[in-house]
Amino acid sequence: MESGLLAEFDRQIASAGYACRSEALRDLARHWLAGRRLRAGWSSAVGVLSFVYDHHRHDLGQRLTGLQHEHHAEIVTAIHVHLDVRTCFEVLILRGRADRIQAIADRLTALKAVEQGRLTLIPTPSVKKGGER
Ligand code: NI
Repeated sequence: MESGLLAEFDRQIASAGYACRSEALRDLARHWLAGRRLRAGWSSAVGVLSFVYDHHRHDLGQRLTGLQHEHHAEIVTAIHVHLDVRTCFEVLILRGRADRIQAIADRLTALKAVEQGRLTLIPTPSVKKGGER
């Protein structure tokens, strides 16, 4: 690695609070590997989908509820906040295959009155069933 690049890297990781270069490199490697696993789609993952919508828009509330019931296996829980008389903020926690979570998020945020949808995905080790370790 060029010395200028390494010097800048060392300055930035020190200001980010890393005690040594190897800790920063370990986190970079994890982040890079996580991104590759998520892009491959088959990775187990957890996700947080948040969006704002106008519940006065025709049948949107019912369509959102219908879609969430359709994907009950992946949607673990939902938090609903009434921001004002017409605006709602909803946060969904999802788990499952990364590509399934992405597809559900795409369907929900494609609904017309849904604004500002954001999905955060974190890859997880494959989830074991029923007490396996
Ligand atoms: Ni509401």
